[in-house]
Amino acid sequence: MNTWGIIKNVIIGGSVLVFFFILWFYNPFKHVEHYEVDKEVQKIVDNPWKKTIHGKTIAEEGRELFVTNCSSCHSLRYDGIYLMSVQMNPKWKNVEKSAGRPIYRHGKLYKDRFFVPKDVYESFAYDDLQNLKASLGQIPPDLSTIYLARGEGYLYQFILNPQKVLPGTTMPQLFNPQYDKQAKEKVAKIVAYLKSVNTPPPKEQAKRTIMGILVIAYFIVMGALLWKYRENLLKRLGYH
Ligand code: HEC
Repeated sequence: MNTWGIIKNVIIGGSVLVFFFILWFYNPFKHVEHYEVDKEVQKIVDNPWKKTIHGKTIAEEGRELFVTNCSSCHSLRYDGIYLMSVQMNPKWKNVEKSAGRPIYRHGKLYKDRFFVPKDVYESFAYDDLQNLKASLGQIPPDLSTIYLARGEGYLYQFILNPQKVLPGTTMPQLFNPQYDKQAKEKVAKIVAYLKSVNTPPPKEQAKRTIMGILVIAYFIVMGALLWKYRENLLKRLGYH
């Protein structure tokens, strides 16, 4: 290759590298807002599966807080939480039993929680949802996958002070640090709960990492063996 060719390659290769570097590391399209969990409660969000002094996990406590404080407006279908007004309807139990299936997550079967298909739930809860829409301007979203969509920092700041993050929203502030000393802790527990619905516990995570490594190792070993086989084959056919 002559000098000009080398220069051309370097320029083309370099600009491709710079292009992808900019796109991936200094992504100009990513959100500029930055939300963080307060340092004093970060530990709570970090490990939802840790046992508390009450013998429950942080996620379980967060779930209880969610049911009492949030389920008047929000459902969380992936974990069998439906609007309070729906759960109090005596007919709902039958719908859960006939149209739903018990929640099975991370090796545990919850016989008292049911996953009911979205269309069945939404037609059963039609009036309840429309009432919420009439008073709040919109139907509060189901929060089954909100952790994946928004991340922990956003959720923490939003639940702690909805007006600050989404000015004009009709979602009320349920935990005010001015009046409730444990407000931040409670919000952190709820975020930990939302996280636990969308992410596997550490043991499961480790299992998946090992599976990933094994699968890649399998491909590498098989690839090497095939390569060797090909060499032998070519030799036998007289190409070497
Ligand atoms: C009085 C009804 C009401 C209650 C109670 C309520 N919310 Fe909301 N929530 C809303 C409404 C309405 C929205 C839609 C907000 C918007 O887009 O303006 C919302 C939106 C949200 C969102 C989505 C925000 C986004 O950016 O998409 C999250 C997360 C959330 N609520 C969490 C909670 C949690 C956790 C609780 C309990 C601590 C709770 N909410 C209690 C009405 C409520």
